[in-house]
Amino acid sequence: MADPDHQKDGKETHNDIESFHAALRSSRRILALCGAGLSASSGLPTFRGAGGLWRNFEATNLATPGAFAMDPGLVWLFYGYRRHMCLKAKPNDAHKALAALAREMPNFLCLTQNVDNLSQRAQHPPDRLFTLHGSLFDIKCSKCDWIERGNFDDPFCPALAPASVDPPPGETLPLLNPYHRIQHVSEDELPKCPRCKQGLQRPGVVWFGESLDFDVIARADSFVRAGPLDLMFVIGTSAIVSPAAGYIDKARKNGARIVVIDPRAEDLDEMDKLRSGDFAFGQDAAKILPVLLEPIIGTRQPDGSYRKPG
Ligand code: OAD
Repeated sequence: MADPDHQKDGKETHNDIESFHAALRSSRRILALCGAGLSASSGLPTFRGAGGLWRNFEATNLATPGAFAMDPGLVWLFYGYRRHMCLKAKPNDAHKALAALAREMPNFLCLTQNVDNLSQRAQHPPDRLFTLHGSLFDIKCSKCDWIERGNFDDPFCPALAPASVDPPPGETLPLLNPYHRIQHVSEDELPKCPRCKQGLQRPGVVWFGESLDFDVIARADSFVRAGPLDLMFVIGTSAIVSPAAGYIDKARKNGARIVVIDPRAEDLDEMDKLRSGDFAFGQDAAKILPVLLEPIIGTRQPDGSYRKPG
């Protein structure tokens, strides 16, 4: 790395754990933006790249109101499968470390784009975790404003049973094999809204082309504006989806040093986006976050608690 901005006495600083620990110890206000990479070590696929295909569909093409209007059964099979996978997955050490940081630092706010419920299951304090893109386990009406929170039915309805099957070890689930024809799920087989009786029930996630919850955005903005920020963690996200990605610039403008945690973080094109004083750790979030946060959260004990230093 030739960039002098990231060198101190000839030593790289962008990924220097000691330098990061010093910055963390003196931090008072921290924001985080998390994405699918946070849950990668829990076995959940990311959206883009190798994990981004579902059958032969781009996952992002199924996450639209247009796709649901055209074939709600297919979109529901995709989400039924994701619900099943998320229920089977367990929070990893990155979810747990962030939850521990939130318990220690009242001025740490975590914005997550993830809809998998793993941060919640890691006991992240709910008032310090804003779910920008909703939750797979909330169910909304596609026509009125009815919403049911915390529906963990698996399968969600009988017609979606093929999405909630575990294949024998080493075998692919027939549903995931694009050459395997799947039974079409018709609209009549999907539950209707209990209130308006017109709309179909749909996953409570934000799809492309839809607005984020106004209240969540207002509260996130007010946290950013409430005072200077010291650090902005960018964890496991390609940071290309707005408005979520916009929080990186907002935090920077408010004084934050950016801390990118992502296996790609130290690629040259990613490093180009950094400025002097920023950090980049090109590693699995589940491995590096507990190490980075240790000065505040301590070390994890076999019983799941953290023992703090000193
Ligand atoms: P992406 O799939 O775009 O990006 C995932 C990021 O995680 C990539 O930068 C990977 O390099 C990184 N990654 C992979 N494994 C990792 C690991 N073990 N530790 C840390 N990072 C790792 O997912 P998002 O950025 O979350 O929106 O996508 C943003 C939004 O676009 C999603 O919330 C979803 C999607 O379409 C909606 O559904 C509205």
